[in-house]
Order: sequence, then structure tokens, then C-alpha cells
Amino acid sequence: MSVLSGKNVLLGVTAGIAAYKSATLVRALIKAGASVQVVMTEKAKDFVTPLTLSTLSKRPVHSSFTKEEDDNATWTNHVELGLWADLMVVAPATANTLSKMSQGTCDNLLLATYLSAKCPVYFAPAMDLDMYIHPSSTNTFEKLTSFGNIMIPATSGELASGLVGQGRMAEPEDIVAFIENDMQGKLPLRGKKVVITAGPTYEAIDPVRFIGNHSSGTMGCELALKAASLGATVDLILGPSAIKIDHSLITVHAVVSGEDMYNAVHTVYGDCDIAIASAAVADYRPAHVAQEKIKKNDDEFTIHLVKTKDILASMGEIKKQQFLVGFALETENEQENAIKKLRKKNLDAIVLNSLKDKGAGFKTKTNKITFIDKDGSPTSYDLKSKKEVASDIFDRILLKTI
Ligand code: CTP
Repeated sequence: MSVLSGKNVLLGVTAGIAAYKSATLVRALIKAGASVQVVMTEKAKDFVTPLTLSTLSKRPVHSSFTKEEDDNATWTNHVELGLWADLMVVAPATANTLSKMSQGTCDNLLLATYLSAKCPVYFAPAMDLDMYIHPSSTNTFEKLTSFGNIMIPATSGELASGLVGQGRMAEPEDIVAFIENDMQGKLPLRGKKVVITAGPTYEAIDPVRFIGNHSSGTMGCELALKAASLGATVDLILGPSAIKIDHSLITVHAVVSGEDMYNAVHTVYGDCDIAIASAAVADYRPAHVAQEKIKKNDDEFTIHLVKTKDILASMGEIKKQQFLVGFALETENEQENAIKKLRKKNLDAIVLNSLKDKGAGFKTKTNKITFIDKDGSPTSYDLKSKKEVASDIFDRILLKTI
């Protein structure tokens, strides 16, 4: 999955002949999973039509501060556009627009949006070879990069003038690859290894029956996806769950019982950087598993249960460099019990769910958590989707580990 997946991209198109390639760029960004909003200068419309770009981006193209709608003039809010964006790409970026960007000139919507954008801004210059190496252009590039903008250098080849040299806008696919590489390189968990346990465990009674619980595995899967989106490689040890995960950075180890989960965890835990145990592991399992289906011959039937291995406690016992996070599902004296678990299992943090909170715990799409640090200090969050909760958990972990 591309790092651009789910990202909001503002594409600024200015008036250079390479603007015809912006149609391909919109397609490439959308193929990578991004939402694309095009903002173009008036003059850029001489090179590519707004209709082409709005059709491809599935959004109206903006080019002026006001637009006529049903005889009413409405305002195109550049501040909102700037805040919506996760990143902005100006491609092609002409010498004129780049110079204005470096000066803070604000005489069109694209420039106002650029000044309002708080996100990373990439620019892909496109100009003739002598313009490209002119000291004023070099100065502009330097100034823009000193502001934190990221330059996607022009390539060499035949130019619109017929001359051959550097000045061609990078090809759309190369612009996307450049941005992906740059973003990946800046991901906070790049190069880190994360282990996550998730889902229920099934403890066999006989070949057809088991002891299990209602965990769906959603919380752990959201944590795995979040870790991967932050650049980590993830080992997800997943008990029986209907959820299918397909992500190049996530290896799913499908397990059934607590014993399977224990074994799978210990094949990957040793060299990991962060481990999170969100699985609802059965605390007890049948002492003996019947080889054949048990017949209902007797009026009463008793199963002798023995404790399963506490996977998290075993991780805490051998913990070295790992930042170890557990979950605690409690119904009473919640914080006190969670802190006891944190200490007993040698954790760095624990995520508390209370079954008293409506919308928290199993079989829901939402969760309400309190994140408790090693020193026992709690941070409580509102009821949120499990995806947002995963994000909150990683925000706390990043604060503690980076
Ligand atoms: N856990 C585990 N292996 C087990 C039991 C629990 O790894 N055999 C982990 C869970 O994944 C969770 C944490 O331990 O991160 C706490 O689980 P919880 O069920 O709340 O507590 P228990 O330790 O099982 O204690 P109790 O059921 O008595 O509250």
C-alpha cells in the first residue's frame, strides 16, 4: 500500500507546457490511493482544461477566489483548502509562480492556498534550460527549500523550445515515486519492528468444540495498520478472526490456541522494538482434548480446565529493548487493577478498557480507553472509532519512544 493512500493532495497546476502531464499526475496520485484537489492558475487553462482535471480528480477544479453558483458569487476558501491538504504538489511549477512563492506574493488562488498550507509542499519546476540555470531561478529554488519546501528536480531531455537540456518537469510517475520515497523516509517508525497480538483464542475441547470469546480482533488489526502506516514492519499474531489484512509491511501469523499464540510471539519478539498485546487470550484451557467428539451420554458433564500460559507476562519477563504495551479489560476498580497488571507483567504502558463504558470492548466498532504510563499516570480519551483509538495509542507510544 502506498504511503499516499488516504492522503489529501492539493495539486497546483501552473502555466507551462508540461501542464498537459498534470492529467497523468492526477491519475497516478489517485491510483496511489490519494484524494486530489486541483487548484490551477488562469493561464494554466491555456494548456490543460479544468474539465479534464475535474473529471479525473472527481472534484471541481478551483482557480479563482470567487465562483458563480446559481447567480450567487461564492468564496473559494483557500485557508480551508490549505488545512484540508496532507501535502501540496505544485507541478508544473513555472519560474513565475516559483518566484512569487519565494517572495510571498499572493495574487491568485494557488498562491494564497500555498501560503495557507501548513503541510509539506513539493514543487516540480518546468522551464527552458537557460531559465532553469539562471541565478535568479537557482536563488528561488534555494529560498523555497530553505522554507522547508521540497524540490523535485527537473530532468534533462528535449524541451518545448527544441533545445536539449535540464528543465523538463519530472515524469508524473517519477513525481509520485519521489514523494512516496520522501514521505517513507520521514515516517517515524521506519526501520522499526512491531509485534501485535490480536483476536480471541480458541481452546479445543474435542474435534468440534472449543472455549472462546467474543473478541473480533478489530482493535489489534487497526493497531497493525496504524503501525504500518507509520513505516514499521509488523508481525500480527492473530487468533481466529474474520478480518483479512493485506499490507506489504504486515505479516499475519494466523493462530488458534493460546499455546499457538505463545509460540508465534516468541519467534518474532526477541528483536522487536515495540510489542502490543491486545489479544483476548483464554485464561484456561481443557486439561485434555478429547480425540473423538464427546457424546452426550451423561446428564452432567465437567471439563477440567488448566491455566494457559500468560503470553504478555512471558514477554515482560525477557524484555530488553522492547517497549511493551498491554491491554486490561476491567469491570471494577479499573485503574487500580490495570496498574497492578502493568507492574506485575513488567510493562511500559497499559491500555485500559472498562466494560462499564458503553461502546467499549468486544463486538463494537468503537472503544473508550485510558492510556496508563509506566509511572501510573493516566490519559483518558473519549469514545472513538477503533481506528482513531489506534492512532491515539501510537501517539502516546511515539511520545515515549522517539
Ligand atoms: N494476556 C496474555 N496472555 C494471557 C492472558 C492475558 O498475553 N494468557 C494479555 C492480554 O493480551 C492483555 C493483558 O494480558 O494485554 C491483560 O489481559 P486481561 O484479560 O485483562 O487480564 P489477565 O492477565 O488475563 O487477568 P484477569 O483475567 O484476571 O483480569
